[in-house]
Amino acid sequence: MFRVTRRYEFAASHRLHSEQLSEDENRRLYGKCNNPYGHGHNYVIEVSVRGPSDEATGRAVDTALLDGLVKREVVQPFDHHNLNKEIAAFGDVVATSENLGIEICRRLKRNWKEVFPGEWPKLEKIRIGETARNIFEVGADEIE
Ligand code: NI
Repeated sequence: MFRVTRRYEFAASHRLHSEQLSEDENRRLYGKCNNPYGHGHNYVIEVSVRGPSDEATGRAVDTALLDGLVKREVVQPFDHHNLNKEIAAFGDVVATSENLGIEICRRLKRNWKEVFPGEWPKLEKIRIGETARNIFEVGADEIE
């Protein structure tokens, strides 16, 4: 069994602000990330899949198919967009990298069988590099 990881990048802006918290609590919790004008990140997304090496192709995943799916569902809709204002999922959900990981996972899982109808490969995990110091990882099986 192999694990294959592909890396993608997009730039997007966001503001960390929870409607469930007061203005003061938001400022204290999120600090400058709560700035009403928002700020941007160059997000680095790693998508990991697992599967056996196919006998005919010698590959565990057709990376062109994976690239097509990730670009269509994640990179194109998010790149140079404001996550809070332009991505419906963040209308009432804080645009943290945790929630971004959930949204990316859902988008890929929703369309997975259309691109990979066979038993393999399976989506294994998503890793999000928000800054050089902040890395978020979530297993696909951990997301509904
Ligand atoms: Ni931020």
